[in-house]
Amino acid sequence: MLPEQQDILWTFLTMMFTLFAGFAFGNVIQHCRAREDVNTTLWGGIFGAFFLVSFWQTSHMFGLNQQEQIGFFFKNQLLTTLVLLLVWGLFFKSQKIENQSPPLIRAFFFWTTVSTLLAGYTNWLPQQRSDPPPKGGVVIGGDLTMEEFVEMGRVIVYGAKQVAGQKSIGKGQCPLCHTFDPGDNIGRCPNLFGVEERSHTRIKEDRYVNLPVKIGETEPASGVVKGAPDKIDPAYARGGDATLNGEDYLRESLMCPSCYVVEGYGKDGDTKSPMPAINKPPIGLNKIELNAVIAWLQSKDTPGEFAAVTVPLPTGDEGQAEAAPAEDEGDKPVFVTGEEPVDQIINTLGCPLCHTIPGVEGAMGTLGPVLHEKTNAPNRIKDPNYKGSAKNTKDYVKESILDPSAFVVFNEEAGEPFPDGLMPTTFSQQLSVKALDKLVDFISQTEAPPQG
Ligand code: HEC
Ligand code: HEC
Repeated sequence: MLPEQQDILWTFLTMMFTLFAGFAFGNVIQHCRAREDVNTTLWGGIFGAFFLVSFWQTSHMFGLNQQEQIGFFFKNQLLTTLVLLLVWGLFFKSQKIENQSPPLIRAFFFWTTVSTLLAGYTNWLPQQRSDPPPKGGVVIGGDLTMEEFVEMGRVIVYGAKQVAGQKSIGKGQCPLCHTFDPGDNIGRCPNLFGVEERSHTRIKEDRYVNLPVKIGETEPASGVVKGAPDKIDPAYARGGDATLNGEDYLRESLMCPSCYVVEGYGKDGDTKSPMPAINKPPIGLNKIELNAVIAWLQSKDTPGEFAAVTVPLPTGDEGQAEAAPAEDEGDKPVFVTGEEPVDQIINTLGCPLCHTIPGVEGAMGTLGPVLHEKTNAPNRIKDPNYKGSAKNTKDYVKESILDPSAFVVFNEEAGEPFPDGLMPTTFSQQLSVKALDKLVDFISQTEAPPQG
């Protein structure tokens, strides 16, 4: 059963319960009107309150994910409705008009029981049944085809499953920054359409040969020797001859982004790339995964045609041992429950790819502002251009995470605003209420480390 279907079930039930509370309210008012000895304010107040509580619960349910909806429904909404039924019964009893209680009350009792059972049942079902293996992933055996290997690369980039309303992003995180279709552009990172072709011409450019480091020199951030496929980390090396080719360019782009910085996309006069090294944490692809991504990059512009792919297929043993985890992770939609430590939450969501965050190891991203929110947030709120609704630091941080465009930070260093629309707007679907609180608490107290 798809998660979306269960969401619909719970959302439907919660709305029905509110409608029912509204109906009870109307019914009680009607009875009060018909009799003079009844305290209308008291009973109207009680049932009005039931309706409001139900209504609040329903609107709250819209903000929860499926797991939380189930919990909230049973712990809160169902309880409210059962108490309501009880009080409604009391109302009829106290007025000695049990005989006038609507048949619907009895029907409703039946309906509640049946639908609760049904809901419980559908919720219980998928855990009892073993789900079929995911179709998107590829299990590497001895006889992997290039088509399967390329598909593995695609899954690492995009994830195996599209989740409704979420940009599809896999373990490799590339779509966080890059676009891949002609004409599709989100600004700060190059569109990767045609990158296979470019990989052959780039290495002949003067800019490649000399900037920011020369061929044969070591790029300091990654420790990679530029343009030297024979000197690449043996755990990732292609092997074979030492002549630089297009595949080497792509591998180098992933392992040493600052070895060549696409014009206009770098920092400090295009000498530093904001892209993280893909073989290091937080992304940390292994050789097989990295090669699968390269195979995908080399063939994605010509679907069904793999002639341009030069990376070798992994051999059976290699693949079995290394490729399995990628598949698991690529298959799950990203979601944090709040049980995780906060740095794990931050890494899972990919914040370090764009932000430098004090207190989070390896969070050195430069595409977004440095997160010094203890000092930044109060200043943002005071900014005359600030049009958001936050009144304090935590509210501001929460707003920035859930609705990044509410205020677009100005980049003093670059003399222009940070790119609007680059920070994902889907975090609300990936965080439980608890995880969001934890994240906001942490980010709210980030500040510049003491000088010294
Ligand atoms: C945090 C944002 C970010 C992420 C995540 C990211 N990149 Fe990049 N990438 C960039 C930026 C910015 C550039 C341009 C600067 C440069 O050349 O390094 C770039 C450049 C590249 C280039 C060189 C393009 C060219 O025209 O020469 C390739 C190839 C590339 N990225 C592939 C990937 C792949 C594949 C992934 C995922 C595994 C990925 N990137 C993840 C930001 C990112
Ligand atoms: C793809 C890049 C990217 C990712 C991933 C990303 N952000 Fe951002 N973030 C930005 C950019 C760009 C801005 C500045 C533009 C704006 O204000 O919308 C920003 C702004 C912010 C701000 C406001 C900062 C200030 O000083 O006012 C906060 C807070 C923030 N991000 C937190 C997060 C958190 C937490 C995560 C992870 C859950 C995250 N971001 C993930 C790019 C990103």
